Amino acid sequence: MGQPGIDALSFYVPQHYLPLSVLAAEQGIEPAKFSHGIGQDKLAMPGPDEDIVTLGAEAARKVLKGEDLSAIDTLLFATESGIDQSKAAGVFVHRLLGLPSTCRVVELKQACYSGTAALQLACGHVMRRSGRKVLVIAADIARYDLDSPAEATQGAGAVAMLVSDTPRLMQIEPISGLHSEDIMDFWRPNYRSTPLVDGKYSTEKYLETLTGAWRDYQAQGGHSFQEFAHFCYHLPFTRMGAKAHAHLSELAGADYDPARINAGLIYNRAVGNCYAAALYLSLASMLDNTAEDLSGQTLGLFSYGSGAVAEFFAAKVQPGYEAYLHRAHHAGLLANRTALSFDAYRTMWHRMWQGTDPQDGGHYQMPQIAKGQFRLTAIDGHKRCYAAG
Ligand code: CAA
Repeated sequence: MGQPGIDALSFYVPQHYLPLSVLAAEQGIEPAKFSHGIGQDKLAMPGPDEDIVTLGAEAARKVLKGEDLSAIDTLLFATESGIDQSKAAGVFVHRLLGLPSTCRVVELKQACYSGTAALQLACGHVMRRSGRKVLVIAADIARYDLDSPAEATQGAGAVAMLVSDTPRLMQIEPISGLHSEDIMDFWRPNYRSTPLVDGKYSTEKYLETLTGAWRDYQAQGGHSFQEFAHFCYHLPFTRMGAKAHAHLSELAGADYDPARINAGLIYNRAVGNCYAAALYLSLASMLDNTAEDLSGQTLGLFSYGSGAVAEFFAAKVQPGYEAYLHRAHHAGLLANRTALSFDAYRTMWHRMWQGTDPQDGGHYQMPQIAKGQFRLTAIDGHKRCYAAG
């Protein structure tokens, strides 16, 4: 049995986006505030027939192509955009993907951190019995109150990872630096469809927990800062990643070098926040957009989930990894989207909540907007109906 890690990785984003230059013009804000101050160009906008189930299933479809599905005995679905207080979103995905009935399915939540919890648990699980694989899906829809400072940092997307004990892309190393602390920087009570957020405080806590997680990582004998070729950070917006890297560089007594993070910011700039999936979208961006061969190199990953739980860990890129990337598919997904006008964006924003959260038990047919293979077709008698197209 080898070292556990990521065998395959892909993402999926909605068909529509709002250019942040449009939001800036409408709100009388300098476009540079979003493009430089926040570090975002577009925010991905799901239609009423897309949700975490359809986004997650689309992402997973790519990583499962050609795989022996009978080897997958666990599906871990990480999200803070839950569609049900009881049933795991992954159970819908399990059916849509035709996974075997001999598979456990569970949902994990801890704000944007849960994708990392799922990945680490999956790594532990595959080491118990050789040949078993775990499908990890992280999917979220980041939606904030309209006209709030956070509106520009909205987004949506899903990342799927297949975890095995013979990973083709990267090994996940066993040392993790951890930092947990009970704080109220960002949270969403059950009765709200948008979170409450203390924005400035959340950015401060993000950096403080990075300090805690890094110190714990170092105390356990992890790699030195200079041994990492590149770093990927949780990206609520890409400027946060730049601030995090400057902070870590300072802690390590090193100069700030943007070349060690820039490839990992490209996809997130064009998608926006996708909470649990954001770090792994950055990882996909790093692998796809780094021109040099990363084989044998070590990447540093920092995961932050408000509330708060933070983790710093290392991944070692495997020789030959490039053959298993989905560069062209990912480039096509981002290029073939449709830009929304401001009015169309606002209409879609309202429709997404009102249309997909009816409470009277009636029949609600969803308009066909999604172009992927999976759709939320209707909500009928309090039940969500999904179809593979
Ligand atoms: N040109 C260039 N830069 C400009 C500018 C211009 N014309 N105008 C303003 N800026 C800069 C500002 O100087 C500022 O830069 P610094 O951070 O370096 O000071 C930056 O743009 C942001 O502007 P503001 O300070 O005015 O901040 P804001 O009121 O727009 O709010 C925010 C920013 C607090 C991040 C807000 O977007 C927010 O609340 N977002 C949601 C919370 C969040 O994402 N928190 C991140 C940590 S928590 C986490 O990571 C979990 C998660 O996913 C939610």
